[in-house]
Parts: sequence; C-alpha cells; structure tokens
Amino acid sequence: MTDSTKDSQASNAMWGGRFAAGPDAIMEAINASIGFDQRLYTQDIRGSRAHAAMLAAQGIISDKDAEAIGEGLVTVLSEIETGKFEFSAALEDIHMNIEARLKVLVGEPAGRLHTARSRNDQVATDFRLWVREQCDAAISGLDALIRAAVARAEEGADWVMPGFTHLQTAQPVTFGHHMMAYVEMFARDKSRFEDARKRMNESPLGAAALAGTGFNIDRFATAQALGFDRPMANSLDAVSDRDFALEFLSASAICAVHLSRLAEELVIWSSAQFRFVSMSDKWSTGSSIMPQKRNPDAAELIRAKIGRILGASVALFTVMKGLPLAYSKDMQEDKEQVFDAADNLMLALAAMAGMIGDLSVHQANLEAAASSGFSTATDLADWLVREAGLPFREAHHVTGSLVAMAEAAGCDLPDLSLEQMHAVHPGITEAVFDVLGVHNSVASRQSYGGTAPDQVRAQVARWREILG
Ligand code: ARG
Repeated sequence: MTDSTKDSQASNAMWGGRFAAGPDAIMEAINASIGFDQRLYTQDIRGSRAHAAMLAAQGIISDKDAEAIGEGLVTVLSEIETGKFEFSAALEDIHMNIEARLKVLVGEPAGRLHTARSRNDQVATDFRLWVREQCDAAISGLDALIRAAVARAEEGADWVMPGFTHLQTAQPVTFGHHMMAYVEMFARDKSRFEDARKRMNESPLGAAALAGTGFNIDRFATAQALGFDRPMANSLDAVSDRDFALEFLSASAICAVHLSRLAEELVIWSSAQFRFVSMSDKWSTGSSIMPQKRNPDAAELIRAKIGRILGASVALFTVMKGLPLAYSKDMQEDKEQVFDAADNLMLALAAMAGMIGDLSVHQANLEAAASSGFSTATDLADWLVREAGLPFREAHHVTGSLVAMAEAAGCDLPDLSLEQMHAVHPGITEAVFDVLGVHNSVASRQSYGGTAPDQVRAQVARWREILG
C-alpha cells in the first residue's frame, strides 16, 4: 500500500483529495446504502462493462485498459455471487464497493472506468435495469395467474352461483363469469407493466453528473448494449427523475388491489357460512387450539400486501415531490421501497396463481346458494315486462309483492303456486316458471359480456387465443 493510499483511507476512502477527515460514524450510518443497494450488483457490473467497452471503442481509454476492467468486473461478479465479496459501509454504496474492489484486482485501469460517468447516471441506469426486470417478472407472474383463472373459468362456465351487490344476493351468475372478471383485471394489470416497461426503456447512462460530458462518448452504443431502446434525451431528466419507479409502484399497487379483492372473496367463500370453496392443504394452515379449523392464511396475507405496496408508492411519491433538479441524495431512498414492493408483489402473484389452481370449488353449494335469496326476482320483473306488457316500474312493484309473499311463506319464488301469483297479478302464466330457475336466468343473459355460459365460453376462447 502506498503512502497516499494510506492517507486517503485515514481521511476518506473515496474523496481523500478534498476531505481531510473521515465521516462521523452516524454520518456513515445515515449515508451508506450498501446494506440494500448491493442487490443492484448485476446491473451495476453490466452497466460498467458496457461503459468501459464504449470508452475503448471511442478511443477514450485504451483497449488494454478496457479489457482489464472487463475481466476484473467478471471476477467481482463471481466473488459477489459466491459470497466472497466483502461489502463495506465506508465505501457507501454498491458503485463504490465494486470500483474499489476492481482497483485492488486490476490496479490503475480501474481508475479510468469512471471517466465520462458519474454515480448519478450510474445509479439511474442500474435502477432502471432492475425495475425493468421486475416489470418482466410481474408480466410473467400475471400471465401464469391469468392462465390459472381462465382454466377455472372454463371448467365452471355453467356453474351457477349468486352474484352479489352490497354482498347481498343480486342475480345468479356463473362461476366462470366471476373468474373471468378477474382475468380482465389482471390482464389490464399486465398491460400496465408492459406500458411502463416500454416507457422506462431508455438509457440514462452518459448523462454523467447532470450536464452530460465533454468526452466524445457514444450513448447510443451503451443504450443498445444494455437493451435500451435509445438514450434519454435530456441529461438533467436522466439523472433526476424516478417516474419509472413510480409507475412500477403504481401498477403494482393497482395489481395488489385486485389481488386483495380476490383474496377477500376466497376468505369469505371458504368460510363455514359460505362453503363455496375449500382451500387445499398447500395454501392453508390449521389452528393450534381449534382442531376443526382450516385458515386461509395465504389469502389473508395476499389481501394485506396492498398495505406495504401502496405504502411504498406513497413513500416514494413523497420523497420525489418538490425535489429540485437534478440529483439529490433524497433519491437514495427510492430503492428499499421498490425492492420491498416488488418482492411482495411477486410472492403474492405466485401464491394467488397456486391457490386458484388448487382450489376445490363446490358446485352444488354454489348452485344451492344461487337458488336462494330471490336471486331471480329481476328475471320475473323482466318477464312481466316482456310477456305481460307491464311497464318496468309496475313489474318491479308486482315482483316485490311476490317476493314479500314468498318471504312470508318461508319459500323461494319458484315455490309459489300459479294461484298465489294470480292473487298479485292475473296476467302471470305457467311460462313464468321457465325464468324462475337459476339456469334459465343465467342462460338468458346473452348480452355481450353477460353471464350466459355461451358468453363466458366465448370470452374463455378469446383469452386462450390471446394467451397463445
Ligand atoms: N447511492 C447513491 C444513490 O443511491 C448513488 C448516487 C450518489 N450520487 C451522489 N451524487 N452522491 O442515490
């Protein structure tokens, strides 16, 4: 170790030229991000290799130096991957940790890597690469979930169940229709990640600290090497915005809302009061004290994930709000939120896909529930309009009286006799019983996007085609 290196370590490992003393221990604790940003090591090394190769191609560093840097970075990568790398808080972040190790491994050329670059464009590049990968992970997680839901929808295309509004029995629907509602939601979620991915796929690298650089760099070459569509067009924007992370978090939060609603339905449906479904052993737990219990823990935890995912997005929106251009250290607070949200979203997507695939659906219970609660009252009112020529408002009134009559008799609408119905309205005929059954009810709802099994099967076929 040379004297000058010793000196710089006594004062400050990274900017000993300017700084005489090292940071306070608490400064180091608040400032260091290595505890979490070490997750960016693959992206950091990828970015550095692309940068070094470009510097050599442009004649800014020698081929020999670029080669030494490239090989050194491969060694660093394998050291990190095999757990041999020692991360140091004194070196602040992943960028300085890797560069310092490179210096030890290859010597002088390592010092040339940071030419025409700053940690500001470096971290923006690393983080974009990381979030882009998470978009891909969300897209494939959603794809698997959509496929699982489509399969269940096809199986239950004509299984009748109660459709609810206000969680009160409203009209019969089919189980397939209910599943396909989530397919639509999850497909929109997927397209939000696809859109966000497209928009974020521009390279900040080469924006340098904020103003670009006087070196003759080729930003198009590094953009291409890193799989970006193009370099970002404004260097200030490149280092100072995190809208790509905000978009990822927003798309994640909306997706987590959808997951939470489905999870809530599974919790309700698997209760002893509903018995619409049973969770498989794989996705439930028992109780340490109540032997009869089978708790839908996975569904409950998925239901809760929106809390932390939305929390992460609120946190980052709040960090970014009011920040003047360009980079500010506040932005270091972006990563933990996004890491946590991404980890939990991927887990929730995988758990939901597994749960949907393994769910036992109790068709007979669904049908029994669909038949109770006067779920075909609207069909009766519609029949009175169509067949007896009543204005809808009067039909609504007549049907209400019939429901009251059935309720008083403790029976359901199809259990009333024709004589009982005539007492309320003489225009009712035997044909009314055709629409009072739940199967007839759902079969009649042939409007596009309606719950009729034919319509559900058509939607299943459309999605199968889209999914390929
Ligand atoms: N660790 C920093 C971050 O995550 C890297 C960028 C540091 N830039 C700077 N000008 N201090 O934001």
